[in-house]
Amino acid sequence: MKIACIGAGYVGGPTMAMIAHKCEGVEVTVLDINEERIAAWNSDKLPIYEPGLEEVVSAARGKTLFFSTECEKHVAEADIVFISVNTPTKTRGVGAGYAADMTYWESAARMIARVSHSPKIIVEKSTVPVKTAQAVERVLSNNVLNPGARFDILSNPEFLAEGTAIKDLEKPDRVIIGGRQTPSGLKAIDTLKKVYAQWIPEDQILTSNLWSSELAKLAANAFLAQRISSINAVSALCEKTGADVSEISKCIGADSRIGPKFLNASVGFGGSCFQKDILNMVYICRGLGLEEVANYWESVITINNYQKRRFVDVVISSLFNTVRAKRIAILGFAFKKDTGDTRETPAIDVCNGLLEEGAKLAVYDPQVTEERMKMDLSMDKFEWDHPYSERKAKEVNDLIECSESVYKACEGAHALCVLTEWDEFKELDLRRIYDSMVKPAFIFDGRSVIDGKAAKKIGFVFFGVGKPL
Ligand code: NAD
Ligand code: UGA
Repeated sequence: MKIACIGAGYVGGPTMAMIAHKCEGVEVTVLDINEERIAAWNSDKLPIYEPGLEEVVSAARGKTLFFSTECEKHVAEADIVFISVNTPTKTRGVGAGYAADMTYWESAARMIARVSHSPKIIVEKSTVPVKTAQAVERVLSNNVLNPGARFDILSNPEFLAEGTAIKDLEKPDRVIIGGRQTPSGLKAIDTLKKVYAQWIPEDQILTSNLWSSELAKLAANAFLAQRISSINAVSALCEKTGADVSEISKCIGADSRIGPKFLNASVGFGGSCFQKDILNMVYICRGLGLEEVANYWESVITINNYQKRRFVDVVISSLFNTVRAKRIAILGFAFKKDTGDTRETPAIDVCNGLLEEGAKLAVYDPQVTEERMKMDLSMDKFEWDHPYSERKAKEVNDLIECSESVYKACEGAHALCVLTEWDEFKELDLRRIYDSMVKPAFIFDGRSVIDGKAAKKIGFVFFGVGKPL
């Protein structure tokens, strides 16, 4: 069986590597129009950092796993075509700021129609608006050139999280496959189910109609993000009342109806998907006249923005209402630990908030390159069309230093802010850091990784999200 996947990103690369690694009798080719990315997948330095990924890729690459830019050739030959292209938030036109931009998606579908001459199963792997399969069916059926081509569309959304992608792919909580409830649709569901059943217990492979599967993905991300905004809303209340949000998480998480996961208060959630998928759901709801439902989900984003702003405000007000020309160490820039991904990382908003006040930032992250950080901070959030701003880039060059270690970043700093929960931040020599800082020395822990009591004992002024002051 030949499998092709259009899109060699954070999802396409690892998911296809796992299929190639686990399945007998398949040949998997991951495709991308980005030549640099494909070259990296074919090299020793993979384009994404993900624990365990190198081992899985190197076990299968060149045997059952291939990476290529020859999209048309491999799609034409494939029995199953996964589409795993990006579906970012639209930045202009109707629905800008909310709707998913389906440009890449539609161009992939049109290419499939153009080059196909045999029956194929088309699998939606990207996260898409509910009812996308209907649009894909129309694009395919209206553009097919060869009478031998016939398509069954399946929805098979991905639930992996970055930083734990390989673990998640190896032992997913569930796989969902949605398809048309027709004989041909059900046969296609069964074919894809047999691929996953080679390593996932069958009772964890759920099947459904197309729309449930598409919407389940948006709903799952909305629920997860909602839990974080809920606990972050509680964290604000804790800081005003003397309650401790970690104790509250433990207490409410012990209720088996609630469960303990995703209750870590933080500086705010980041990542390429939570915000994008909720905004997309809000857009869909509004389009369907469900204003109250749209408002409900949008409030998850409102609280997240509030949480990031609140963190910046606490830093500024604690530092005597001025951070101008003060050195502030930023520990962590990635949106979570064990990834180098910075898409929608809360660090961008926090750093921007401090840069606007003239602070000098010394940033340390073990996986994010200086080039990436500077590029992210040189974007003008409100300039949708041409976000790269020369003015901001100059300011960033003047005000940002990328440090080679936590200790270097903290030298001469008035404060340190923890924005990513990297494990190495849990074992810092706080005494050494304190001795190298300007006094009073402040810690603002946005990830609950620093022992606040120990820090205070050394002499730090300590602020932890949701902790008693
Ligand atoms: P990504 O940007 O890392 O990768 C997408 C890739 O598709 C890019 O390399 C791009 O060059 C390529 N591409 C775009 N159009 C193409 C075309 N016409 N032909 C060939 N290649 C093309 O994105 P990602 O993070 O892998 O996300 C992909 C989808 O999966 C999104 O819909 C996202 O919401 C969803 N998703 C992401 C995650 C995650 O953890 N990142 C998890 C679950 C679901
Ligand atoms: C998330 C989902 O967890 C995946 O199931 C989904 O497939 C993926 O989005 C997607 O569709 O892209 P991801 O964004 O990679 O995965 O990472 P998460 O572990 O969910 O973390 C997202 C953000 O929430 C991070 O910034 C993280 O630090 C933050 N977070 C998470 C908290 O602030 N508190 C928590 O308790 C958990």
